[in-house]
Amino acid sequence: MRPGGRRQEPIRIMSQHPNPQQRPRVLSGMRPTGKLHLGNYMGALANWVKLQAQYDCYFFIADWHALTTDYADTTKVTDNIKEVLLDYLAAGLDAEKSVIFLQSRVPQHAELALLLGMSTPLGWLERVPSYKEMQENLTSRDLTTYGFLGYPVLMSADILLYQPDFVPVGQDQQAHVELTREIARRFNQFYSLDGREVLPEPKSLLTPSPKLPGTDGRKMSKSYGNTILISDPEPEVRKKLKTMVTDPARIRRTDKGDPDKCPVGDLHKVFSTPETLAKVYDGCRSAGIGCIECKGWAADSLVQVLAPIQERRAAITEPQALEIMNEGSRRAGMRAEQTMTEVREAMKMPLTTVKGA
Ligand code: TRP
Ligand code: SF4
Repeated sequence: MRPGGRRQEPIRIMSQHPNPQQRPRVLSGMRPTGKLHLGNYMGALANWVKLQAQYDCYFFIADWHALTTDYADTTKVTDNIKEVLLDYLAAGLDAEKSVIFLQSRVPQHAELALLLGMSTPLGWLERVPSYKEMQENLTSRDLTTYGFLGYPVLMSADILLYQPDFVPVGQDQQAHVELTREIARRFNQFYSLDGREVLPEPKSLLTPSPKLPGTDGRKMSKSYGNTILISDPEPEVRKKLKTMVTDPARIRRTDKGDPDKCPVGDLHKVFSTPETLAKVYDGCRSAGIGCIECKGWAADSLVQVLAPIQERRAAITEPQALEIMNEGSRRAGMRAEQTMTEVREAMKMPLTTVKGA
């Protein structure tokens, strides 16, 4: 040490952030659609679980978003919230590492959505690809509503409220994050705080999602009724696999097939070990194995992946899960209020400019 010099600070290793708040922040959420399936897990949740190691994470349940399409019948929303919450925790979201919360328990989402709505041009919303698409697909409901058109504004508020660096989403949501950036940019053009941007533009973090077919061979999706749930017990997984469609060229046991043309083959590629996969390719192409045997192996692989998830789910009670969500919502609310204080001040809203109001 130099005479009279101060002791040098120990060198900090990047991975040992003294304050988790200094890590880059991520935020993401899902609509509460009920029990989650393997597609939800592989396309989002499994990735979120990994992100917890490196980021300051906020994960939420977007219950207000459910109303944009299900406003006429809200009876299932509460149950669906509980199921999604249990699935989040079962999959490995950890309240020690992440803030896990419910959108409607943080009313600042509504406040920011309202304020952002003031400056969002209608044309931007009408151009969102999912807008026309969903209206055409969900013909059983009247989606010519203000709430449905405004969905991306609410989503922008969900995101910008936490001033995150990244938003992990699948490809289907990328356009929404892009619009969020535009909405933020416009806000920042109108308002700032001492020359500083209040709503930084977040980047989307594209979640790589493997091709995951449902039991009928189409993309796994709740609306197709072809899902395997992450909470399905082993017998159910085996039963669903048995009904799964296979390579249409393999009609008889003696017909040769191709796992690359078979939905069961796709499941093997995602969930099976390289050894099992090699046996599948060999056996299928030589007609050395039957589809029933092959499906049994696929079920084995799935059951292995699901076992730790289901163990965790069995270990959590509903009151414990709700307590985690309540505490997470309280913490999210504090973080959200920090942003809203800046937003109100930047917008010179009476709350901050009329002293004592
Ligand atoms: N729109 C998303 C979906 O349908 C859910 C969502 C709402 C969301 N708000 C969000 C995702 C904010 C990421 C960030 O899946
Ligand atoms: Fe599909 Fe397996 Fe049958 Fe081949 S053996 S067609 S991969 S189920």
